[in-house]
Amino acid sequence: MTYANETRRRRTFAIISHPDAGKTTLTEKLLLFSGAIQIAGSVKARKASRHATSDWMEIEKQRGISVASSVMQMLYREHVINLLDTPGHKDFSEDTYRVLTAVDSALMVIDAANGVEAQTRRLIEVCRQRDTPIITFVNKMDREVRDPLDILDEVERELGMPCVPMTWPVGQGKSFGGIVNLRTQAMTVFDSGSERLPQDFETIPLTEQAQLAERFGSEWTAAMDSMELATGASPTFDEAAFLAGKQTPVFFGSGVNNFGVMEVLDALVDLAPAPKPRTSNLIVNKQPVVKEIQPEDSAFSGVVFKVQANMDANHRDRIAFVRMASGKYTPGMKLKVQRTAKELRPTSVVTFLSQRREAVDEAYAGDIIGFTTHGGVQLGDTITDGANLQFTGLPFFAPELFMTVILKNPLRTKQLQTGLDQLGEEGAIQVFKPEIGGPMLLGAVGQLQFEVVQHRLKAEYDCDVRLEGCQYTGARWITADTPAELREFTNAYPQRMSLDAAGTLAYLCTSPYDVRLAQERFPKIHFHPLREHA
Ligand code: G4P
Repeated sequence: MTYANETRRRRTFAIISHPDAGKTTLTEKLLLFSGAIQIAGSVKARKASRHATSDWMEIEKQRGISVASSVMQMLYREHVINLLDTPGHKDFSEDTYRVLTAVDSALMVIDAANGVEAQTRRLIEVCRQRDTPIITFVNKMDREVRDPLDILDEVERELGMPCVPMTWPVGQGKSFGGIVNLRTQAMTVFDSGSERLPQDFETIPLTEQAQLAERFGSEWTAAMDSMELATGASPTFDEAAFLAGKQTPVFFGSGVNNFGVMEVLDALVDLAPAPKPRTSNLIVNKQPVVKEIQPEDSAFSGVVFKVQANMDANHRDRIAFVRMASGKYTPGMKLKVQRTAKELRPTSVVTFLSQRREAVDEAYAGDIIGFTTHGGVQLGDTITDGANLQFTGLPFFAPELFMTVILKNPLRTKQLQTGLDQLGEEGAIQVFKPEIGGPMLLGAVGQLQFEVVQHRLKAEYDCDVRLEGCQYTGARWITADTPAELREFTNAYPQRMSLDAAGTLAYLCTSPYDVRLAQERFPKIHFHPLREHA
């Protein structure tokens, strides 16, 4: 049996933006329009007091940033839409990168006054590496913002791909008149939106030129001119190019006013791709066995792209977020973790229907399900109902910041070990164990990760630790074509060798020259700045 009908109607996408561009507002409006929530405000409230019940999230509350990514599912026009939120703070970008491996497309929200900002730029790079199709939403047109042509130009430059305007703004700020829908050739007239269901915005067909010109005056003429320039300079929408991540459809609007949001929701259904096949790369007898897994295949498979601990402060459990790659999930199913060949024994399995966690009835490729476990599952693990598969592509970035962990009470060594193992498995921090012994090293991409880990070690494992600076400024994962070559290298730098949480060998460096020198001395050694879970 295949599940083609089910997978074809799935859309799994990440919403990406720089903080404050309006991601939370848009998420909320998408949920509102799809009928998943009745009154906007709940996501926002959650943003303010996100995970208020969970102690270890206190840091997040204090700083008002989102550390955790979340998943929301909604139904719209007979389609199942899985929305994955991404943490906006730059120190948690690793988590965001991994979320991007679990989606088939991305919705990029841009503040029309600020254009493409730093955080968005980094996310775009990841999307580009993976050729993820990107839909662009230019938000806050009700404010005094930049010229739309200017914004398109910047998006094109930053994305390195042409923009295809799907809607076009008439005026902005106080004189924002609305948007022209290029497909339907009609203008939707702007009106401040409410917090409730989408109102019917007035539409006027473009054939009514005289009426439009009279009503919107010089804004109309200017909009028609710039629209002509924009459409003349852009290619027409080409589905194949969009799906290959070679052009981005662009929508304008104002999230907070519900305006232009329906167009985005429709684009997710009409333009965004259904789940794609995923490649399994298993090593059998040292030989790679590559297999393409189709979403509609009947056997269950999925990959853990996020592990989050203690979502419920009363239970010491962890939730493994699995992006399904194929098959159907039904309760009670027997599943195994490829890495250990052990059965996965979750205490509960949930979906994330409109932000509530609910028990899963059934789920298909593209869906995200959460397995609550007491361990045994790691970031990057492949889960199947029996077949031997290993999905790859979950990135770990070489840390640029390092700290040594000093335990204040040596009697808590065992708890510290457990804590670091678990936090390492979760990807909250990277843990490196020097091969010659000595204190453990923590490696992070952002400074804030250290603070979160220090806080969590105390709150969850009762380990008071001091973090001390050390001489390392980078790490490279090391491979060689032969064991002898690798041995020669590790013998030359015993004090620099360490093992990460997955037991992969890494070379610790003190400066960029370090790597270059080592590379010159050992040209046959491969130095990897990025490790993909394999
Ligand atoms: P984020 O998740 O990307 O960080 O952004 P968020 O949605 O929280 O929006 C950031 C701010 O921008 C919010 O204002 C929000 O109301 C505002 N905003 C979002 N969309 C629009 C829009 O289309 N037009 C205008 N004018 N503003 C918009 P805030 O002052 O931080 O919060 P609030 O007090 O308004 O809730």
